[in-house]
Amino acid sequence: MVRTNWYKDAVVYQIYPRSFKDGNGDGMGDIKGIISKLDYLKDLGITAVWLSPCYMSPNDDNGYDISDYRDIDPQFGTLDDWKEMISGMHERGIKLIMDLVVNHSSDEHEWFKESRKSKDNPYRDYYFWRKGKGKNGKKPPNTWVSRFGGSAWEYDETTREYYLHLFSKKQPDLNWDNPKVRAEVQDIVKYWLDLGVDGFRCDVITYISKTEGLPNGFLGGDNMFTHGPNIHKYLNELNEKVLSKYDCMTVGEASGVTVEQALLYTGEDRHELDTVFQFEQVEANAYFRIIPKKVNLKKTKHVFSKWQAGLYGHGWNSLYLENHDQPRCVSRYIVDNPNMDDFCRKQSAKMLATAIYFQQGTPYIYQGQEIGMTNIEFENESDHVDIMARNILGQIKKYAPFLKRFALKVLDIFSRDNARTPMQWNADENAGFSDAEPWYRVNKNYKKINVEESYADKNSVLNFFKKLISIRKGNEIIIKGEYRELYDSHKDLYVYDRDYNGAKLRVICNFKNKDVKYADSAGMAYAGQSLILSNYDTDEKYEEVKVLKPYECRVYMFT
Ligand code: NOJ
Repeated sequence: MVRTNWYKDAVVYQIYPRSFKDGNGDGMGDIKGIISKLDYLKDLGITAVWLSPCYMSPNDDNGYDISDYRDIDPQFGTLDDWKEMISGMHERGIKLIMDLVVNHSSDEHEWFKESRKSKDNPYRDYYFWRKGKGKNGKKPPNTWVSRFGGSAWEYDETTREYYLHLFSKKQPDLNWDNPKVRAEVQDIVKYWLDLGVDGFRCDVITYISKTEGLPNGFLGGDNMFTHGPNIHKYLNELNEKVLSKYDCMTVGEASGVTVEQALLYTGEDRHELDTVFQFEQVEANAYFRIIPKKVNLKKTKHVFSKWQAGLYGHGWNSLYLENHDQPRCVSRYIVDNPNMDDFCRKQSAKMLATAIYFQQGTPYIYQGQEIGMTNIEFENESDHVDIMARNILGQIKKYAPFLKRFALKVLDIFSRDNARTPMQWNADENAGFSDAEPWYRVNKNYKKINVEESYADKNSVLNFFKKLISIRKGNEIIIKGEYRELYDSHKDLYVYDRDYNGAKLRVICNFKNKDVKYADSAGMAYAGQSLILSNYDTDEKYEEVKVLKPYECRVYMFT
């Protein structure tokens, strides 16, 4: 079997199944719904889908808590539906990347049900069980903090011990130090690859190896469970035993990863993962990694350029601005207002796409990003349905109630619910997502922002995305070209070149809602130029560009 590295030329579209399209009229997105939209995806031009979890799950964390790794949750359909979906994708030249959530399982997984029964159960060591501290053993075994707030340990009456959960208490961490657990994971991966899956997005993969003895550490234990001591050994083993035998790809979710660490995970000679999602670009604009602050373009550009340079020739970047955990990019990077001026929304959505997707790496488009969907307005506390938001609010109400208003304000911007509203297909009731009341509220701006409207408008964000994707396809400069940033200290413009075999692409993006002067002093050879993409109607030659309009972007090609 030859590994083709197909992901290097792929454009991936992420589907969050519960919010994409309801196919059976129960208000919940499902696989039949996805099947009904495969032609839409083909028309968009994407070549792979990353599907967020649709496995059997009690859905405490919307499917990131899996109770059966080999079956589909009935709310999404059946395994037969899934097979029909993957065939439909493959017929259309679309590959399928499944989510692999194996740092933890659900507490309703058979392994955990067994594990909690007794201290000598054969599945006990599939998870981390420890005695409590303190006089009555009623204090957690260490100071690790769950990513969703509060202690990472839950006391269990049956055996009077605590178990570890870095996410919700219904997501107990799997013990990868146990070879049986690793063998189970290898089997699961093989099972889906044999069913035709083309790759995996590996959920919180940097957490799978915990430091021996589970010491307290810093920052809620972060340095004791991130990039742990055996992580490379475990990933290498998974690669050698299973992944290397298939022409598949992997992308690891790697919060907190540096360029140097990314190279350890993805270096071609290391046989672990193919790519990672880094978080630095998000963290560059946040306090304590998560509380969003005003976007600082200089810092953001610095992060982009650092990753472009750092992985060039050694690794491969994943290019994203949105996913199911992040706010909508026009709200995050431009204006946090669901009713933002429509012209500004469209122009900035196109400009942001241009800024990121001409870099080297695999582009990931999150459902709805291609029509410029925005954050929502949260009216009541009960509008926050995501477990992370609910847990954090719960902790704040318990320990620091005076911070509640502040917390709600922060959640307005960064709550994961922002990205999880139903996909806006048309201006009909429920945005054409479902005939029934959707599981979660539709963004009120759906009459204006939807797929049908986008097809009708030649200047839509959607049509721009289609053009951008078609330009990328098979384009050697974009795939292989060297990246070089220009004007790196400019606070409003992001300008970069991609050079390959004597040809050059120049990407110019204005992040400001105002005209910004552009005076190129780099002495370009202006021969053989063409403006291959822009978000304003212009045919200006490169040397004539003196001013960039609000959120203007242009891509010139020089041959
Ligand atoms: C990362 C996923 O993207 C997120 O949605 C989930 O809550 C956590 N991992 C836990 O699985």
